[in-house]
Amino acid sequence: MISLENVSKKFGTGVFGLSDVSFAVEKGEFVFLIGPTGSGKTTILRMLIRETLPTAGSIVVNSWDIVKLPSSKVPDLRKKVGVIFQDLKLLNDRTILENTMLPLQVVGVKGKEAQGKAEEVLKSVGILEHKDKFPIQLSGGELQRAAIARALILNPEILLADEPTGNLDDETAYGIVKLLSDINDLGTTIIMATHNIGIVKKLNKRVIELNKGTLVNDKKDHKPKEHEEKEEAKEKTEKEEKVEAKEEPKEEKVEEKHEEKEEKKDGKLKVDDFEEALK
Ligand SMILES: Nc1ncnc2c1ncn2[C@@H]1O[C@H](COP(=O)(O)OP(=O)(O)OP(=O)(O)O)[C@@H](O)[C@H]1O
Ligand SMILES: [Mg+2]
Repeated sequence: MISLENVSKKFGTGVFGLSDVSFAVEKGEFVFLIGPTGSGKTTILRMLIRETLPTAGSIVVNSWDIVKLPSSKVPDLRKKVGVIFQDLKLLNDRTILENTMLPLQVVGVKGKEAQGKAEEVLKSVGILEHKDKFPIQLSGGELQRAAIARALILNPEILLADEPTGNLDDETAYGIVKLLSDINDLGTTIIMATHNIGIVKKLNKRVIELNKGTLVNDKKDHKPKEHEEKEEAKEKTEKEEKVEAKEEPKEEKVEEKHEEKEEKKDGKLKVDDFEEALK
């Protein structure tokens, strides 16, 4: 679904934003992009929506060759790829509802229909009550949710989130990542750039690590040691409890749940579905 092959980016200033980076992301994956400041995370995300082009290498997003893509096709790409920008890019002179509706207006959905859709998405990210406020009247976590709502309004197949937990306290940050994880469970491919290692450790997701523009680590089944130990301890306690209570294993139930999730993954994200996941 997304692939970068030997991608380099040299800026006009002579700075190398990226050097020979290659990786691929499958449909439905959740990937953390980590690395110190200036390591190239935002540069990668900007390339995926063709906001900037690589100096060398090739990039494919949803079967579009980003380098060869004519400008006339860029709006099609941007409809499929929702972005939560590092600086949010919410318009301060518009309400949260108006900000959320903007992408709909661009594609010709107007009036009551646009308003209805925007309200549904705002409800599903938990900030419908703030719809008539201006960005300056919202907290950091609420603003992130507004940016997520706007990024989701066109039901994108891919969601790029650039440092969506920056400047948030741990609990609020976890709420935002949980929301993204729920959206991912419904089939949307997510790449999230972050400095928040605590959050990365909490979620058992793939982690791609950059340093000075180079890919230094790509852990497909990332499971920090700490997490593994906790899981092992939990399993052990559960086993002991089962022996004591002579309980039957509950494997059947787990499988059923898994199947349900798989079914949903086939379809595109629907607001109703993801409202369901947030319950
Ligand atoms: N438009 C630009 N012109 C010149 N240099 C740039 C430009 N954009 C980014 N860079 C440089 O490219 C490098 C990578 O920047 P990038 O914004 O991708 O880093 P980042 O990993 O997102 O950092 P942060 O964690 O601080 O957001 C940095 O050295 C940065 O100064
Ligand atoms: Mg950045």
